[in-house]
Amino acid sequence: MAASDIYDAIILGAGGAGLMCAAVAGQRGRRGLVIDHADEPGKKILISGGGRCNFTNIGTAPDRYLSANPHFARSALSRYTAADFIALVDRYNIAWHEKTLGQLFCDGSAKQIVAMLLDECAAGDVTLHLRDAIRDVGHADGIFRVDYGDRTATAPALVIATGGPSIPKLGATGFAYDLARRFGLKVVEPRPALVPLTLPQDEALFHALAGVAAPVVARAGGASFAEAALFTHRGLSGPAILQISSYWRHGQPIGIDFLPGLANWLVEAKRTRPRATVKSVLSDLLPARLAEALAERLALPGALDEQRDAALAEIERRLADWQFHPNGTEGFAKAEVAVGGVSTDVLSSKTMAARHLPGLYVIGEAVDVTGWLGGYNFQWAWASGWAAAQDI
Ligand code: FDA
Repeated sequence: MAASDIYDAIILGAGGAGLMCAAVAGQRGRRGLVIDHADEPGKKILISGGGRCNFTNIGTAPDRYLSANPHFARSALSRYTAADFIALVDRYNIAWHEKTLGQLFCDGSAKQIVAMLLDECAAGDVTLHLRDAIRDVGHADGIFRVDYGDRTATAPALVIATGGPSIPKLGATGFAYDLARRFGLKVVEPRPALVPLTLPQDEALFHALAGVAAPVVARAGGASFAEAALFTHRGLSGPAILQISSYWRHGQPIGIDFLPGLANWLVEAKRTRPRATVKSVLSDLLPARLAEALAERLALPGALDEQRDAALAEIERRLADWQFHPNGTEGFAKAEVAVGGVSTDVLSSKTMAARHLPGLYVIGEAVDVTGWLGGYNFQWAWASGWAAAQDI
């Protein structure tokens, strides 16, 4: 085997986590090889945030991540913070802005983030190999071997950074899980997250609202999010729904508060506008088509002063916790991330190293750590990549 094929670390996957890990390890003097089957690095970075990459969130905290072990992300997130990544972005003079809820985006383009990471890799003398499939991965006598294309590389450290299966058309695969299982690591069954939910056909009234959006509070699985919801031809989307989808389980309802922050509004309206109808009062508060659909479901015709206060209060309660029964999600084809992944039970939270196999690391989305919508997932990719790089 040619000497050039011996490395200190082989990193599988040139996404956010893999590039960060390779760059930092390289700058610490480790000889790193990154292998990716895609034709360019960082494809998910390039399409993220509508092409502007929501690269971090200044509200990053462990409780904004889902994992079988809610404490696992704490160590890496506290050692490489949003402020650290912002400092890097600033060093490259990449202009950015806060859009909403602590979400930071490039003013220009996500391409700047990929270019920055590649420059950082170059500063660490990292070798990047694209466009070839990984044919086999083996381990013997403390050395990992990776066969890719028509080459073979070996190293005492192997980093699995091939992400999750969301958006397969971008080259995403479940490779990380398969490889982890081969090395005896437990995997928490992945499911689509940050994904639109679908509604059954008998919710036709709501299917007809495709394109209508409203600020709501969405609730499921003990979580709640106050953001916009959007009706689609197939069901529900928008930030509030994407967020809640990560907590939703098949068979559960989701509750939507269509009038967050309002109390006694209908009973009050009966005093001030006795001849108004539920529909006309709703039309003042919600988009007209939504008000119409909800009023039709509530089936309470006639003027408010013809209704008992108790009946109006019941309507207020229903609109504050409208029960939808999704029959599924739009799946990995549309999901931004996966919930689940390589179990945190088998990894060190400090170094991301496999507990029983020295030299093996798992970082980024491949790990059972999933952030909220809003830059949290990239911050996990940077932080977990950085943590592994300190140990390589
Ligand atoms: P990532 O998936 O980025 O990288 C894995 C790499 O491994 C890829 O380059 C892939 O080609 C390669 N690979 C996979 N299988 C392989 C195999 N078998 N052989 C060789 N290579 C293989 N997050 C956020 O914080 N802010 C945002 O704005 C967005 N926006 C967003 C939009 C959309 C449409 C999606 C789908 C996702 C987001 N996300 C996001 C989530 C974010 O993109 C995601 O969490 C990170 O990209 C995960 O980084 P990783 O490096 O772990 O995996």
